[in-house]
Amino acid sequence: MELLFERRRILLLFLALTSTVLLTIITPYYYYRKSHVQYVLWETSTSTSTSVSPSVSPESVHPRKIAGSGRMCNAFSGEWVPNPNAPYYTNESCWAIHEHQNCRKYGRPDAEFLKWRWKPNDCELPLFNAAQFLEILRGKSLAFVGDSVARNHMQSLMCFLNRVTYPVDVSHTSDEKYTRWSYTSHSFTLAFFLSQFLVKAVEADQNGPTNTGLFNLLLDEPDGWSTQISEFDYVIVSAGHWFFRPMIFSEKKQVVGCHFCLRENIKDLTKYYGFRMAFRTAFKALNGLNGFKGVIFLRTFAPSHFEGGDWNNGGNCLRRMPLRNNETRLDGFNLELYMIQMEEFRRAEKEGRERGMKYRLMDITEAMLLRPDGHPSIYGHWPNENVTLYNDCVHWCLPGPIDTFNDFLLHMLMMERRGRTADSISGRVY
Ligand SMILES: *[C@@H]1O[C@H](CO)[C@@H](O)[C@H](O)[C@H]1NC(C)=O
Ligand SMILES: *[C@@H]1O[C@H](CO)[C@@H](O)[C@H](O)[C@H]1NC(C)=O
Ligand SMILES: *[C@@H]1O[C@H](CO)[C@@H](O)[C@H](O)[C@H]1NC(C)=O
Repeated sequence: MELLFERRRILLLFLALTSTVLLTIITPYYYYRKSHVQYVLWETSTSTSTSVSPSVSPESVHPRKIAGSGRMCNAFSGEWVPNPNAPYYTNESCWAIHEHQNCRKYGRPDAEFLKWRWKPNDCELPLFNAAQFLEILRGKSLAFVGDSVARNHMQSLMCFLNRVTYPVDVSHTSDEKYTRWSYTSHSFTLAFFLSQFLVKAVEADQNGPTNTGLFNLLLDEPDGWSTQISEFDYVIVSAGHWFFRPMIFSEKKQVVGCHFCLRENIKDLTKYYGFRMAFRTAFKALNGLNGFKGVIFLRTFAPSHFEGGDWNNGGNCLRRMPLRNNETRLDGFNLELYMIQMEEFRRAEKEGRERGMKYRLMDITEAMLLRPDGHPSIYGHWPNENVTLYNDCVHWCLPGPIDTFNDFLLHMLMMERRGRTADSISGRVY
């Protein structure tokens, strides 16, 4: 008996040692904690060869497996570089594209905006690989919580996955707010919880002071998604664009203030207050979930690009090329919203750490700030259609730059998987 134990210990120790050695050799990805924010980093290679060459399809592109110079790389800081092979799906091959983001169908004439990929400054971000993604998520579930930009992201993901397999609709309700898809070949469940404000909100007035509605937000009450989320393995949370509308804020069922409600007896606390509290409440709800073993991704704010006016008074997005890193910088409300997200993310991560919660930052703000060319603008509907849609400089054409969210997602999931392996090894041995 004792001998058996001894043998097992030696075996475990041996396994641990070899795995550790193997992991250090083959794992090009590391998390690096810097002032409590986790950046996605991986080792860089001294070689300048990219993982994308004209003859290689994205399905066959594999992440760099061999450690290079050992320097760390922030994957979210970089430039857009030409990629003649993109896009990897079309409006014909993908039925999941939301009408309003089907820019090709509605006559967007230029295709240049499709032909770019994200290049981190000191490393490569491999392109999405549907087969690999589905393999990693075999038997798992992933949920998007957020507004229509979150749905935009999910539909990009579905278009990629279409290359391998089709899902079946397994929604629990006919309400389009909450949809679920099952990729039965891989027992992978994908879900979308529409929640523009993350917290409970009702439209109190369809018009409001700016004719864009007036919303009552219960800033300390998470929206319906929170009761259905604990079963998911991965949750991607995002929000932002709805906080520009007039809102009245309540806490403990009492009105505490508003954003641009123009009511004499209510203090204007600004959109930033509502935005901050909504994220705080959403993260608190996640940290309070019983039995939740998942990973929480914050997908940071993706800037809109209205020029020549605001979204509701003639602003439009007419650029046809990405910006260079040195041509713009994050400022104004984009910066403010981004900083608030960072602060609330750090706070939630700190609070959640004791409970074993895993928070990861999908920090796409810089990359998307550089893509004023990627929005539908007027190409979200037929020109002769009598609709009251504004120029859309918020959502992203599909295919389009938002496809890059899935490059990031796959690589964060791969790191996650490697991290977990390491955890379970050390967990068993020590
Ligand atoms: C796809 O876009 C093309 C224009 O590039 C258009 O002619 C076609 O009708 C569109 N198809 C669908 C299914 O949206
Ligand atoms: C930005 O950088 C590029 C490449 O380094 C350079 O050609 C360009 O002149 C720079 N633009 C500005 C506005 O500094
Ligand atoms: C378009 O919609 C507006 C407002 O709903 C209506 O007054 C107008 O008659 C419509 N025009 C056409 C051509 O249908």
